[in-house]
Amino acid sequence: QVHAVIPAGGSGTRLWPLSRKEFPKQLIGLLGDDSLLQLTGKRLNGLAASHPLAAESIVICGEAHRFMIAEQMRQAGIRARILLEPDARNTAPALTLAALSLTEKGEDAIMVVMPADHAITDQSAFQASVSTAIRYAGDGRIVALGIVPTRAETGYGYIKVGTELDEHGGHRLDGFVEKPERELAEQYLASGQYWWNSGLFVVRASVWLSAIEKYEPAIHAACLDAFDGKTADADFQRVDARRFDACPSQSIDYAVMERVVHVDSGFPTAVVPLDAGWSDVGSWDAVWDVMPKDENGNVSHGRVMLEGSSNTFAHSESRLVACVGTDDLVVVETPDAVLVAKKSAVQDIKTVVARIRGEA
Ligand code: GDD
Ligand code: MG
Repeated sequence: QVHAVIPAGGSGTRLWPLSRKEFPKQLIGLLGDDSLLQLTGKRLNGLAASHPLAAESIVICGEAHRFMIAEQMRQAGIRARILLEPDARNTAPALTLAALSLTEKGEDAIMVVMPADHAITDQSAFQASVSTAIRYAGDGRIVALGIVPTRAETGYGYIKVGTELDEHGGHRLDGFVEKPERELAEQYLASGQYWWNSGLFVVRASVWLSAIEKYEPAIHAACLDAFDGKTADADFQRVDARRFDACPSQSIDYAVMERVVHVDSGFPTAVVPLDAGWSDVGSWDAVWDVMPKDENGNVSHGRVMLEGSSNTFAHSESRLVACVGTDDLVVVETPDAVLVAKKSAVQDIKTVVARIRGEA
């Protein structure tokens, strides 16, 4: 049995002012009517009959977004078990809770872990890669989906690609470095031996639980304890907040992927290439990249007027936005905040958000 597992607890600060703490990136219709979460929930629809896909997806999120998420799932016709975390402790605990929920009844499902906030333009290429990954995960491997890199992005994980495993297209995973420094990222890019980690993983629930138990016993113990004290109502499963409080915060990448690649880890791994128009739409320039553009490279949403503009991204939520002669500019209007930024500087929006939150 294959289960879609969707961690949806992130906050997407670089897409301010559209993405907010109360209404983060994954819940926004950034690319059209469906939110990124809804698009993710539908992404395995029609997966090859060879993989019995569970009718129910698992979404892991915080209390604050539970009603919005339940409503979005319902609207999109996606059946979902919604697991609530008392507190965001990053993706390793989230995935551990999902794995516990899946193995509870003695079933050992294969989890297709899909971040809730990505864009993928070619669904059939995506499903082909996932099918291959499922095959390897079925054999007990921890499988990452990798992307051929196009720039020295420092916000991603880098996978060192080893020799081909067999005729199905998977490779050995010879190294994993999460969010390297710029200089290292440039070396990796130049070497041609590395792929980006897409953030999509495929792994058996039991294998994940053994790996987290080995590498992050405190996460394993706290999640087990919190899960043991869980309660459920018709719509949500909640783990015990007091027991979960002891859980360290860590991502899948640091907690397991960086360690599991060592030859003596005892955990077989694989990386499967993904060439499906993947983008993590992490910043406004990335959103601009994946959106359809007019003949001058402009993208506009809502009440927007463009005059002599090029390569401009303009989004209006309420008021009329007019851009005249702009080039390489991002303009995002919302009722209480307006962003005007040079496209090359949009990564720095997180600094502004930190200042607004009083963190810097
Ligand atoms: N439930 C839950 N709880 N979900 C979370 C939490 C949490 O505490 N933190 C993050 N998430 C969700 C996010 O909503 C997103 O869908 C996914 O987990 C990934 O988290 P990000 O915070 O976006 O990770 P990242 O972008 O820094 O890095 C990951 O993705 C990159 C590709 O986009 C890593 O896997 C990198 O290696 C990878 O390259
Ligand atoms: Mg991300």
